[in-house]
Amino acid sequence: MNRSYEFPGGFLWGAATAAYQIEGSSMADGAGESIWDRFVHTPGMMKDGDTGEVACDHYNRWREDIALMTRLNLQAYRFSVSWSRVMPEGRGRINEAGLGFYDRLVDGLLEAGIEPLCTLYHWDLPAALDDRGGWLNPDIADWFADYGQVLFEKFKGRIKTWGTINEPWVIVDGGYLHGALAPGHRSAFEAVIAGHNVLRAHGAAVRRFREVGEGQIGIVLNIEPKYPASDKPEDEAARRRAEAQMNRWFLDPLMGRGYPEGLKDVYGRAWREFPKADFDLIAEPTDWMGLNWYTRAVPENDPSAWPVRARPVKQVQHAHTETGWEVYPTALTDTLVWLHEQTDGLPLMITENGSAWYDPPHAIDGRIHDPMRVEYLKNHLKAAHDAIGKGVNLTGYMAWSLLDNLEWSLGYSKRFGITHVNFQTQERTVKDSGLLYAEVIRTHGKVLDTF
Ligand code: FCB
Repeated sequence: MNRSYEFPGGFLWGAATAAYQIEGSSMADGAGESIWDRFVHTPGMMKDGDTGEVACDHYNRWREDIALMTRLNLQAYRFSVSWSRVMPEGRGRINEAGLGFYDRLVDGLLEAGIEPLCTLYHWDLPAALDDRGGWLNPDIADWFADYGQVLFEKFKGRIKTWGTINEPWVIVDGGYLHGALAPGHRSAFEAVIAGHNVLRAHGAAVRRFREVGEGQIGIVLNIEPKYPASDKPEDEAARRRAEAQMNRWFLDPLMGRGYPEGLKDVYGRAWREFPKADFDLIAEPTDWMGLNWYTRAVPENDPSAWPVRARPVKQVQHAHTETGWEVYPTALTDTLVWLHEQTDGLPLMITENGSAWYDPPHAIDGRIHDPMRVEYLKNHLKAAHDAIGKGVNLTGYMAWSLLDNLEWSLGYSKRFGITHVNFQTQERTVKDSGLLYAEVIRTHGKVLDTF
């Protein structure tokens, strides 16, 4: 079949990063410590003892990185702000030097004609707030709105698109339930409370934005669709529990539907009821929603898998990335169609999509060949295009990631970049996937017709 993958005019093409994963210098110029600054120094938590102390040195090399974005034809750049750079104690005092870094970055992007998309929170909670309970303390909703206000006012008229929180589920599942991410707690009781406060904080920031901000605000969710492992009723029940715990836990209350029933089943004694007013706050209407999408899962019933009692079955017939994630692009189309229905047609943006592969360690003749990432990128862009064909209101695509970076507790062992970073020399080399992406952007996707 001869078909065209030209994307609609106005579709926004970009790439994404997060502060702690790329910036380095996390304690420079009066910044406060974040929970990641502490976590990386907790024995046993980080692969190979890696830290984000240098990372991609983006804090010093941001000009060069904007030039890189220009080379890649990016129209937008999604980045996050480190809360403790801007407010070292998380509340009150503003650190002008830290804020100044983002001031220069945003001006630099605008001068280069690149639209800044700002995420307020990508996992690096100020340690001073963690000392007060962090996401377990209900006051965090106000702390977060106050922090948001600093940025909304500072960047009024310059940043038009805002995201409150990146991936509530990962914050809670990684940080409070299983403990593989900062702050490394392991408690179902805490997870339930932290999840609720993350949602309340989002709602409070949206309300504050309506008072003092200008532009569009939304939240960024990770959705990993759950496909049936068999037609056995116990597997279908497991699939539903997994869907409730990962995808609906945050989506349903945001859309005004409260928590899904399945969560009570998953959390048992750890589950609790919350006041009605909280749900009004959480469901404060937003202008858009971000989707971070990497893979799907095929869960089967497994009573020993705490707490969801579901275990993903590896689909050996398909390729898997270096992080063990199945490559299954049509599930991206399905997710977008599903999310479009679930959000009543809210504008959606793919705020992250990408893949980690084993890349050659060094450039050869200035090139890094990454055929698997090229394949992944092509097929997922086609899948996104298919979703638009099915009526999904999809406004943009942000590749994860602009640069190889610190993949959280996996350290530098997993490379997601469309640009290779030599972590010894900080040299950047655009990979073949980056070159393809630049062509995709230049041709509005039409280059995809040729594959
Ligand atoms: C997402 C995170 C992002 C990155 C990718 C691979 O869950 O938002 O920071 O780690 O996964």
